[in-house]
Amino acid sequence: MLSFSQFPVPLFFFLSILTLQCLTSIAAKCHMDDESALLAFKSGITSDPSGMLASWKAGTDCCTWSGVACGEDNRVTSLSLSGQPGKNEILSGTISSSLSKLKKLNSLYLYDLKNLTGTPNFLLGLPEIGYVYIENNKLSGRIPTSIGNLTQLVALSFFGNQLTGPIPSSIGQLTQLTQLKLGDNLLTGTIPKTFSKLKSLNYLNLEKNQLSGSIPNFFNSFPELIILRLSYNKFTGNIPTSIATLAPQLRFLELGHNYLTGQIPDFLGKFRALDTLDLSSNKFSRTVPKSFANLTKIFNLDLSRNLLVDPFPILFVKGIESLDLSYNNFHLGTIPSWVTTSPIIYSLKLAKCGIKIKLDDCNPKTTYFYDYIDLSENEISGSPIGWLNKTDFLVGFYASGNKLKFDLEKLRIVQTLKDLDLSRNMIYGKVPKAISGIQKLNLSSNHLCGQLPPTKFGANSFSENNCLCGSPLPPCKA
Ligand SMILES: *[C@@H]1O[C@H](CO)[C@@H](O)[C@H](O)[C@H]1NC(C)=O
Ligand SMILES: *[C@@H]1O[C@H](CO)[C@@H](O)[C@H](O)[C@H]1NC(C)=O
Ligand SMILES: *[C@@H]1O[C@H](CO)[C@@H](O)[C@H](O)[C@H]1NC(C)=O
Ligand SMILES: *[C@@H]1O[C@H](CO)[C@@H](O)[C@H](O)[C@H]1NC(C)=O
Ligand SMILES: *[C@@H]1O[C@H](CO)[C@@H](O)[C@H](O)[C@H]1NC(C)=O
Repeated sequence: MLSFSQFPVPLFFFLSILTLQCLTSIAAKCHMDDESALLAFKSGITSDPSGMLASWKAGTDCCTWSGVACGEDNRVTSLSLSGQPGKNEILSGTISSSLSKLKKLNSLYLYDLKNLTGTPNFLLGLPEIGYVYIENNKLSGRIPTSIGNLTQLVALSFFGNQLTGPIPSSIGQLTQLTQLKLGDNLLTGTIPKTFSKLKSLNYLNLEKNQLSGSIPNFFNSFPELIILRLSYNKFTGNIPTSIATLAPQLRFLELGHNYLTGQIPDFLGKFRALDTLDLSSNKFSRTVPKSFANLTKIFNLDLSRNLLVDPFPILFVKGIESLDLSYNNFHLGTIPSWVTTSPIIYSLKLAKCGIKIKLDDCNPKTTYFYDYIDLSENEISGSPIGWLNKTDFLVGFYASGNKLKFDLEKLRIVQTLKDLDLSRNMIYGKVPKAISGIQKLNLSSNHLCGQLPPTKFGANSFSENNCLCGSPLPPCKA
């Protein structure tokens, strides 16, 4: 076989010319406007530690640059850059308004770049844009009032930025929208009534803003809506009656952390597809409707921190994954059997629910998946040793303000445990060495005794016990 060095010089020379010609003809593919628009974007980036834009070089075919895709006529149709959580994939700098020169751009994905600033105004120069996901960056300013001109938009997300001001009512003109995500910004004002024209919406996310006023009664306009997230705002008033029309298909209904009032509506029991219902931290009062018995498929139910009263209905759910009924005016007496029989439960929070059991008598079917258990402020006696014997992934256990009575040295403390609050019980024995892996600990007001193991916690994690001693408490008497 011929090796490379054996080529006669003229042939080698000829091959080189050929290669160069190929390169120039490829380079000619990228449209000039697109290349200069992308290079201007790159020049607005002040730091790119992971080299995300390293392949973006003037004179090379921009259709081959990482994150860039071209369509007909070699025009850029898609720009997609994303950082991955935990990695050093950050872009610092300002989004160049020159991106509006990408006249054929159909989709723009800028995910988790974290330190990308600028405003969304350049989008107005892209009348053909269909998909915009600029998530978890540092976009600021207002959503442009004329955003309604971008009528080809199918999906619009500014989730996780620092946008301020009101939501423009012109968004109602974007009648092709299937997804609208404006959550986790600093938006104020009310939800525009014009949203009722967005008949194709399947996902609406406005959570984590400062939106106020009542939730408009326009939900008969969204026959496709599957996910509705409005938590962490300042909404007032009742749950609007038209939400009832979402019953056949809605899977996520999240209205937590607002100022909503009134009774939880009976019609929610008809939401047969519901996977997650979050009404926590509002001012809902009276009873939970009996119709909840029909929520047989619900996995996540959070009604905590409201003003709800007994009786709590029996649910015929096949397996609940997470349940939080804490801090209402319930007197459940026991942990409901539809909870203890769940084969898939991982988070159980029943703080101040009027539970009066001996914990040893409670034999949950599956304890293996638990990561959080909160039974604080009840009248629970006995010991959690049996229950916690098979929880391999427990992260937080909270049982302060009960009547627990057991030897702390016999409690299994798994390596995943970060948060343990057993204050105000009748727990005895010594403090075990295994607490060293915990990040937050409270053992105050119990009957513990003996020398503390080496610990990073302050004295108030151990205060008001019988005879604990050693740093950070006074030294033990010899
Ligand atoms: C974010 O960008 C600013 C200014 O462009 C810079 O000072 C800062 O160090 C950047 N932060 C990170 C985490 O890269
Ligand atoms: C939006 O569209 C209207 C009507 O077509 C036009 O008058 C207006 O200039 C457009 N606004 C922007 C910012 O392009
Ligand atoms: C559950 O649904 C059935 C059928 O729709 C209905 O007849 C029944 O009354 C419902 N149960 C409750 C407790 O609302
Ligand atoms: C906890 O588990 C260990 C080993 O599986 C077993 O020997 C022990 O009896 C269990 N303790 C309780 C209280 O269930
Ligand atoms: C421990 O709990 C008690 C009462 O439950 C509380 O007053 C105290 O502040 C807590 N201490 C720490 C360190 O969290």
